[in-house]
Amino acid sequence: LALLLLSGCKLAEVFSLSGPQSTMVTAGPVAKTQWDLFMVTVYVTTFIFVITGAVLAYAQIKFRAKSEADEHAEVPAEAGHGNPFVEIGLIAGSVALLVIIAIPTVQGIWYTHDVPEAEKGSAIEINATGYQWWFKFEYPSEMVAQPFGGEAPLVTGNELVVPAGTPVRVNLRTIDVIHSFWIPKLAGKVDMMPNRANHLWFKADKPGYFYGQCAEYCGESHAIMKFRVIALSLSDYVKWVENQKQAARTVTAQSLAAATVNEQPKASFAGLSSTSPGSTFGSSPQFDTDPFAGWQAKQRLDAGEDAGLIATGRKLFADKTCITCHTVRGHEGIGITGPDLTHVGARTSIAAGVLENSAERLHQWIKDPEFFKPGNKMYHGGYIDVQTKQPKFTLTDTEIDALVAYLHSLK
Ligand code: CUA
Repeated sequence: LALLLLSGCKLAEVFSLSGPQSTMVTAGPVAKTQWDLFMVTVYVTTFIFVITGAVLAYAQIKFRAKSEADEHAEVPAEAGHGNPFVEIGLIAGSVALLVIIAIPTVQGIWYTHDVPEAEKGSAIEINATGYQWWFKFEYPSEMVAQPFGGEAPLVTGNELVVPAGTPVRVNLRTIDVIHSFWIPKLAGKVDMMPNRANHLWFKADKPGYFYGQCAEYCGESHAIMKFRVIALSLSDYVKWVENQKQAARTVTAQSLAAATVNEQPKASFAGLSSTSPGSTFGSSPQFDTDPFAGWQAKQRLDAGEDAGLIATGRKLFADKTCITCHTVRGHEGIGITGPDLTHVGARTSIAAGVLENSAERLHQWIKDPEFFKPGNKMYHGGYIDVQTKQPKFTLTDTEIDALVAYLHSLK
């Protein structure tokens, strides 16, 4: 009761059930199946609780000691034999209640295990790999020519873009320790295990913007190992894939005016904001803007403010060894330790879904990644030599501004 009172001012929020990571307001059939099963269990156990409580209360009142002599009276031996009909009834009733839970459980296990046969033809496949502490997403059906020959799947980091209404099978892998893949409104959670091929599937009923979270303790920044899922209409998804397949290019006023190739990603992605979950974020400081509108804005190719600054940033990106861990396909970087940054300017979030991808936040993240994500490899190994603990290089605010300009020009 004390806890309820203490949380009283939060109750409205709790019972509105609509937080960005609420499992109670589902947005796809897999999460709906899981939620329905949860509710079946709640109803059955509530029934048991009420019946048991009622019998217990009845027995306590009916058979309480009525006098001093009662309290010390010996229980007659024959009183303990019980009633065979009651006992058989209790067992049969328990079995019946377990069966009521078991039927939807078994059905749910089969249904959530993999894309139903009937829908397999239209499903898309994603490879999701957990890293300490971020997610890599690959699209094996979208092969991309690589700068040094050959092809590899289209790859993104921390933002999984999928078509709404289409089943998505996610192959779950990890590069290091056990992580767990969870999109509360859509599906999950299933562990990403070393040396084991797990998978899950989900389908977003409508276009929308969803929050994901690692759900298995995996080290000091586990709690902020997040990701975003962006479900688009099929036509918007096709446009998005087309743009992502292009090699990195920095967008300046000159290039925008000159290149016809830039017409494609200028597509408006109109009509998506009606399903935006923006209002649910209320006053939360992390989500002070409509995330879907933010995502749409990020898809627009805006002319770079300062081509010189962008060029400086690109050079710094190589000189300050960012390229050893990050890929910018078509530019200098070919690293695979950190997220692929080929189109990082088109993402809404950075640092594995922890920070919004604004110039200010990106500056702060580059300046002091350890502050936002303790233990991360960009700092331990990137900025600081792991053996000697000495800084490998320093970055001035002006240099960081150039890096931000370069990274944000990668749309
Ligand atoms: Cu990854 Cu917890």
